Amino acid sequence: KKTVYKSVLLSFVLVIAVTVLQRGMTANQFLQSQQQKELSPEPMNAQKRDNVLPVANNFWKKEQDPLTKTADATEKQARSWDVTTTNCTANLNSSKDDWFKGLEPNFQQFLLYRHCRYFPLLINHPEKCSGDIYLLIVVKSIITQHDRREAIRKTWGREKEVGGKKVRTLFLLGVASKEEERANYQKLLEYENHIYSDILQWDFLDSFFNLTLKEVNFLKWLGIYCDNVRYVFKGDDDVFVSPDNILEYLGDQKAGDLFVGDVLHKARPIRKKENKYYIPNALYSKTHYPPYAGGGGFVMDSPLAQKLHRVSETLELYPIDDVFLGMCLEVLKVTPVAHAGFKTFGIVKNKNSKMNKEPCFFQNMLVVHKLLPPELLRMWDLVHSNLTCSRKLYIL
Ligand SMILES: *[C@@H]1O[C@H](CO)[C@@H](O)[C@H](O)[C@H]1NC(C)=O
Ligand SMILES: *[C@@H]1O[C@H](CO)[C@@H](O)[C@H](O)[C@H]1NC(C)=O
Ligand SMILES: *[C@@H]1O[C@H](CO)[C@@H](O)[C@H](O)[C@H]1NC(C)=O
Ligand SMILES: *[C@@H]1O[C@H](CO)[C@@H](O)[C@H](O)[C@H]1NC(C)=O
Repeated sequence: KKTVYKSVLLSFVLVIAVTVLQRGMTANQFLQSQQQKELSPEPMNAQKRDNVLPVANNFWKKEQDPLTKTADATEKQARSWDVTTTNCTANLNSSKDDWFKGLEPNFQQFLLYRHCRYFPLLINHPEKCSGDIYLLIVVKSIITQHDRREAIRKTWGREKEVGGKKVRTLFLLGVASKEEERANYQKLLEYENHIYSDILQWDFLDSFFNLTLKEVNFLKWLGIYCDNVRYVFKGDDDVFVSPDNILEYLGDQKAGDLFVGDVLHKARPIRKKENKYYIPNALYSKTHYPPYAGGGGFVMDSPLAQKLHRVSETLELYPIDDVFLGMCLEVLKVTPVAHAGFKTFGIVKNKNSKMNKEPCFFQNMLVVHKLLPPELLRMWDLVHSNLTCSRKLYIL
């Protein structure tokens, strides 16, 4: 099933391509002549077009224009993102040491750039938190996964207001780690952002070990632009989330240092080299991690997020983002709360179990990993249809 986004973009490109071929014009000339034509006597129509065309026009002119510029101009707050250049040179201090030479290339890469923490914003939305936001949903995503973002916008990421509580959504991205993806996808991402205004993009490579950069850059961003947010949900782009259940859960909370999710206690660093989460002794020598919530999806209150930001600056970056947050919580002496409705490792451990696809289970959950776009859309519809469940789960 093609997304609206894809078809809109495709037809847009096609119309331009055909016109350019026919008239031998540039894209900008095309848009300008179209705009002049659109100054029709019909006020309704003209007004509507005004909203659409200048955006498209600006979009194609964007080349030298930083995307953050217009947004910053309308920003009333004095504070704004203050990192404007990337000056991140490799730290070769340990590169001659034997322990460093013995490391896998990805760990070497991580250590060389570990001291580089904050990066310029390529796409910003300083206006996102204007007004009182009750729940800010932020989703870690990468440039190529636009189908996941599309499915999320149609389901759990849909912005809404429930009983006066505003829910807003943002996607957190870096730049494509592969050269050819950078070339092909960046323009599409910028266009996607023009349609939805829900992308934050930083100028660092979107790699697995850089997820911690996403964490600390987001916390800094939140501190600058989102004083009036109550709660933050942060999660992956391949999970099922029930914002209604989250709102219901939060409604019962007393204020103060809330950090809730799928919490692991006494998890051990993985020492098998084949594993995605392998950590060499040289990087972490203790036998256990502090308690931490699986990064697939967790909720924290905004004052705690601000404290996490401050504490994170006193710690060295750790390549696994959710463990890093656990380390920050440990310094703050805040214990993350385990909640059975967060299933960031699946409903049951056995991946093939039918329970992992049972809508009656999903109905009562807050977060479930892992669902890809078609499954997510189907499950969302099922959960929001008139389900008859023989046996109810009372988890909330
Ligand atoms: C980048 O940093 C290096 C050393 O930290 C410094 O020598 C250099 O002048 C900086 N370059 C820019 C453009 O700021
Ligand atoms: C590298 O070592 C020098 C001298 O010990 C120190 O001043 C510097 O801060 C180190 N560089 C980084 C990026 O840690
Ligand atoms: C993280 O991003 C920075 C900036 O783009 C890059 O220099 C570094 O190599 C990346 N680190 C990893 C481990 O991919
Ligand atoms: C569920 O059932 C009620 C009444 O039985 C009906 O009004 C409603 O439209 C149904 N909702 C859906 C999503 O089918």
